[in-house]
Amino acid sequence: MPETTDIFEVMSTMRAMRRLKPDPVPDELINKILQVAQWAPSGGNTQRWRFLVVKDPKIKKKVQVYYKRLYDEIVGPRYSSSAPPPGSDPSRYQRQHAAVKYLTDHYHEAPVWIVACLEDGENPDRTAGSSIYPAVQNMLLATRALGLGTTLTTRHTGYGKEVDAIFGLPSGVHSYAILPIGWPMGRFGPLGRGPLKDVVFQDQWGKPYRGL
Ligand SMILES: Cc1cc2nc3c(=O)[nH]c(=O)nc-3n(C[C@H](O)[C@H](O)[C@H](O)COP(=O)(O)O)c2cc1C
Repeated sequence: MPETTDIFEVMSTMRAMRRLKPDPVPDELINKILQVAQWAPSGGNTQRWRFLVVKDPKIKKKVQVYYKRLYDEIVGPRYSSSAPPPGSDPSRYQRQHAAVKYLTDHYHEAPVWIVACLEDGENPDRTAGSSIYPAVQNMLLATRALGLGTTLTTRHTGYGKEVDAIFGLPSGVHSYAILPIGWPMGRFGPLGRGPLKDVVFQDQWGKPYRGL
């Protein structure tokens, strides 16, 4: 699907694009994606984010080894033994699993990664991520708007210390997400989600929202 700047179309077709071509992505487009990250809100406008643009194949490969290890240890077995999520079905879930496996094996071949990092100190609390994920979401949206593919990935945090060391992060800075970016092999399209009425309540938990 071509580029689009209609925000609702962007959001409703922004599939996790896990199959990416290794063809280069111009810096001009990466710079646009970085700019929207910096436009995001952060608590107190502190802007303690830092973004690492990773193109070095050796660094990406080192990280992919941990990413694959976590697939073998946790993610693969979990996909094989879990039920499809709301809005999905067994064959769709199987295709999702195949795409997850594909990205695992080809993670390092995405031409550009943007690693979203945060100066969150030594003992980040549970609000820490709220000052980096809006920037991450902005980047996902801009990537889709430009016709590029990516997926929000956080699996590497299972070996966070090891991976942060590969990126050379100083103490008090942690990586929160890696966006592998490239031209997509597949097409953007409708998303599989459960019914909205199942997840919205009115006034108190469990009471149906009457607006739908
Ligand atoms: C917090 C978070 C972490 C994620 N981590 C990974 C990951 O490490 N690897 C991966 O392939 N997808 C990852 N995803 C992508 C989700 O699996 C994806 O958003 C979900 O399957 C919906 O995909 P869809 O938008 O194409 O329907 C992550 C998504 C979120 C929100």
